[in-house]
Order: sequence, then C-alpha cells, then structure tokens
Amino acid sequence: VDITVESSGGNHTGGYHYGFLHEDINNSGDGGIYAELVRNRAFQYSDEFPVSLDGWRPINSANLSLNRLDEPLSDVLPVSVNVKATKKSGKRRVGLQNEGYWGMDVKKQKYTGSFWVRGAYKGYFTAELRSNFTEDVFGSVKVKSQAVANDWVEHEFELVPKKNAPSSNNTFAITFDPKGASGGSLDFNLISLFPPTYKNRKNGLRKDIAEALEELHPTILRFPGGNMLEGLTHSTYWNWKDSLGPLRTRPGFQGVWDYQQTHGLGLMEYLYWAEDMGLDIVIGIWAGLSLDGEVTPEADFQAVIDEGLEQIEFIRGSADSKWGKVRAELGHPEPFELHYVEIGNEDWLAGYPGGWTSYKEYRYPLFLKAVTEAYDDITVISSGATSDGDGFKIPAPGIGDYHPYRTPNALVDEFDRFDNDVGHIVGEVAATHPNGGTGWDGDLMPFPWWIGAVGESISLIGYERNADRIPGTFYAPVLRNMNKWQWAVTILQFAADTALTTRSTSWYVWELFARHPITTVLPATESFDPVFYVAGSNEDLGTLVWKGAAYNTTNGADVPVTVAFDGVKAGAQAELTVLTNNAEDPYAYNDPHTGVNIVDSTTTVLEANKDGAFEFELPELSVAV
Ligand code: AHR
Repeated sequence: VDITVESSGGNHTGGYHYGFLHEDINNSGDGGIYAELVRNRAFQYSDEFPVSLDGWRPINSANLSLNRLDEPLSDVLPVSVNVKATKKSGKRRVGLQNEGYWGMDVKKQKYTGSFWVRGAYKGYFTAELRSNFTEDVFGSVKVKSQAVANDWVEHEFELVPKKNAPSSNNTFAITFDPKGASGGSLDFNLISLFPPTYKNRKNGLRKDIAEALEELHPTILRFPGGNMLEGLTHSTYWNWKDSLGPLRTRPGFQGVWDYQQTHGLGLMEYLYWAEDMGLDIVIGIWAGLSLDGEVTPEADFQAVIDEGLEQIEFIRGSADSKWGKVRAELGHPEPFELHYVEIGNEDWLAGYPGGWTSYKEYRYPLFLKAVTEAYDDITVISSGATSDGDGFKIPAPGIGDYHPYRTPNALVDEFDRFDNDVGHIVGEVAATHPNGGTGWDGDLMPFPWWIGAVGESISLIGYERNADRIPGTFYAPVLRNMNKWQWAVTILQFAADTALTTRSTSWYVWELFARHPITTVLPATESFDPVFYVAGSNEDLGTLVWKGAAYNTTNGADVPVTVAFDGVKAGAQAELTVLTNNAEDPYAYNDPHTGVNIVDSTTTVLEANKDGAFEFELPELSVAV
C-alpha cells in the first residue's frame, strides 16, 4: 500500500474529539466512578425499588428498623433507620455496618465520613473499617456525640486505617453505647464514607477509575446518558434540579438500569469531572420523551424547553443570571464552557423505525430555535442520525448523533459512513457482537475483544477523516462494575478492589489514537482495504500524523506500507507505534479475573527513504500511528 499525503487542502478540524458517554449503567455511577463507599446510604426508594435495608447489617444483635419519622432528615429523605439495643445485645456497644458496593477497598489513607443522628446520646460513636469475615479492625475513630433529642445533627469524621486490608471484603461500621442513649436507641440517616477522591473533590470521583479515563487523553464528555436521561416514565427521568446542593436535598431516583440511584453524581459533579479532566462537554437535555413511549404534547412543550434553557443557564450563565446565581452559590461563580447541547437521547424524532411511532418531530425544531436564538455559539444536536430510518431530516444548523453498536465487520463496512452526510457526533460507539454471530439479538461479547477493538479503530479512522463535520466520537458505555452489570462491553472493568480495574483492548486503541490529535486532516491517496487510514497535521505540536489499521489482509499476511508526506525529505524521522494482540487470537480479551493484558505496543523510529517515504509493515489485525 503506497500512500501519498498532500501538504494542504484538507479539513481544518479545530481539534477533533475522542471522548466517552457516561450514564449510570453497570453501577458505573453509584458504586462506580462516584466514590461513595456506602451502599443505600439514605434509604432512598422509588416505585420500582422499594425502601429496604439492603447493604446493612446490625452489630451485636441490635434491632434495625426503617421508619418515617414526623420530622425526617429532609422532605426528600423521609426514611431513616432506628438502631436499638436488644436483650441479646447485653452490655455491648450496638450499631450497624454496611458492606459497600460489594466490598470496600481499605488502605492506609484518609477516609472522610459523616452521618446524621437524631436522639439524645451522651457518649461517643465509633466509625470503623472492619473485615467482613474476621475480627480484624483496620481503622477506627471515636466521634464525640453532639446528638440531641429532637433534631437531626450531622457528625463528621476522618478515619485513617493503620494497615491495608488483605482484600476488599470489608465493611464500614458505626457503633454507640446504648447506656448513653435514651431508650437504648438512636435514629440514623445519610451515612457516608469517601476515600481520597480524584483531584481531592468533596463528593468526588473514585481516583483509580477517573485516572484510567484521564489516561485515555479524552477531550470531551457526553452526559448524563443514554437511557438514564430519558427515564422509564415522565416522573422518573434524570432531573438535573434534583441533583444539586447538599446530599440531604437530593431525592435519588429510579434508574432505568435495574437499580435505585442516589443523585450523588449530580450536575455539578459532572461539570467538575469535565473541568478537572480538561474536557469539553455535550450535555443531554431531557426532551419530553420517556422510555415508556410517553411524549409531552406540543401544547405543553414550552415547559420542557424552559427547563432545558434553565439547565444551560445554570451551566454557562453569568453569576448574575437566575440559574447562574444558583451555580455561584454552589461554589462556582465562573460559568462553565458549554458548546454542545443534545436534545434527548435516541429520540428518532419522526417515529421509531422498529414501529414505535409515538415520537413527535416538533420537539427538535422547537429546541433548535430556542437554543440558537439564545446562544449562537451552541451546536444543537438532534439525538438521532440520518441513517436511523425514520426519515427525519435534521434541520440546519443542527447536527445528528449516530450510535453504532456493531460487529467488527460492520464497523469496517461503515468506514465511509460519513463521507457524504451532514454533521453528526458519534455519541455512542463500540464493537459489541461477534462477526457471524447472533447479531443484536444475541449476547454481547463478554469483554471488548481484539478484533472488535480493531474494527472500532477503522470506524474511528472513518469518522476522523470527516472531522470537519464529525466533531467527536464517544465510547459507550465506559464502565462496568464486575459485581453487578447490565452491559458487558465497556472500555474499563472494575470492582471494589482497586487492583481489579482493567483496561480493555479498546482502551489501548482509543488511547493511542487520542494521544495523537490531528488538527487538519490532509488529502491522501484513497485506496483503502485491507489498510484503512487517515493522515493530517497537528499545527499546535508541529507534527504530521498517520493513523491506520490492517483488517482482513490477503491470507493474513503482513502488509508492506509506504507513507510519503509532501515536503518530508530523505532522512527525516518518524516514530511508529503498532498495537497487536500477543495471544494471536482475534477473540482474545483483557479479563479482569486474570489481569493478563493481551495488547502489545511496539514503538520504533523510522527514517524516511530516499524518496522521503516511511516504510513499514502492518500485521493482520494491527493498529498503528
Ligand atoms: O449505552 C447503553 C445504551 O445504549 C444507552 O443507554 C442508549 O443510549 C443506547 O441505546
């Protein structure tokens, strides 16, 4: 394959984005990147998920009961737990312990916690990190009681374990001496414990997961979903207003992925995530459609638009504006940057091609008008693509959103998908199903796998070739808690034990491509298959970049490649990085249980030949920059 790259005439992209979508699926928010260690910390509930003591156990035969007190901790957290000594408790301290999101990682580091108590108590509480199956206590702190008879009082503490626990099979426990409490009982609510967080944010992100995402060199974050944004019903979508302020004012909601959610990872936390990682954002705005198919009628739609406009004002309005002031009061007077707003999620605006026809197409045009009139520098994204088959024509200046979850072959077939189309983001993409397998109706692969990652690389190359109209690509979904999940294929896998956080095969491919940004895509020889590529320059770094992949080569042989950049002379040097799969099995994957990484990365320095071309060979199923 001989490729010549011209030195001018391409697409200036202004910075092409590699990023990811985050929604709370696979316990990737609660129990995932949101660093809270206590599960069911405030006994939140919904129609779908009744209130329970899930995650909690008594200590020393205490009786635990859930109550709705006349004076609850807050209107939105009406249920609390009463802890009462019983005969069996004898003279022992009593309390309750939480098993976390299927374990707790305990290390010699500073944990920060708090709990609210109601009831008179003279004495001290202990807050402890303990083994779940031996008598070991790894760290313990005494917290002087401030508790009084008729009010809720918050107790805060810091806890530094004396040693690392040998496993994550641990609990967090609070005890008190029933002799000092009237009637031997106390009411508790909102019991919280955080390890050190990413960039030390209060109520922040789990460090190891956030750092593994940061190491992907992302430049954009799409949130908050995904189906989570839409909700199952019109009263259970992800309402940004419920996600603001002190934790005791956040009600939690019935997520769409089979578990109750806390609202802990709220709008401000997402914005700090983007700010701390240096990411642009695509914010999803609820568009009057829930997953039960209900759509807000046109006559009532202004209220939906207003809520979206308020959300935008909250994010980027000045501290003098109504909602910018609320943000300022929450600690961020400076507006956040916001240039992409997406209307809904997968809204197939003229009717779902599969036959569900209740979606209504007035919604996007109304939003487009309202948002562009108020903010001429915001791109308004329609949450549907021109190829979704519903016939909806995305009105200018809007762009679409394409979500290909595909087999590797299908991703390769779609290499030229955007060569002749209007603008889109690729708001969710991943190889999910095996070639020749059962297709979408069958199971997803157990993890991202090598040939899938190579398939993704080829679609990424196709999108980046059209970077003047495709501002960015988002892996989705990104995170999977190995203890409870709904969607197998994610770029990172994790568990309570931070040692199990696993970068998938896709992680290595996306990392390599994102590490080498192109600011102008340059015209190059167009002869693709079995080598697919994009070339360009990076004006900020003063580099020339070629990204390519080999897929389905003749008889699986290595492919000789030459790349000649116009103006590059004999003897010039280039660095070539090639990713291959050392298991020599296209179905191999990085399994968190074994910890084995099957991706090999080899970097060599090439010298341009007498014609100024770089010569190298690409093995079958390899990805290179
Ligand atoms: O990423 C998982 C789901 O796939 C998202 O919630 C939805 O947008 C898509 O259909």
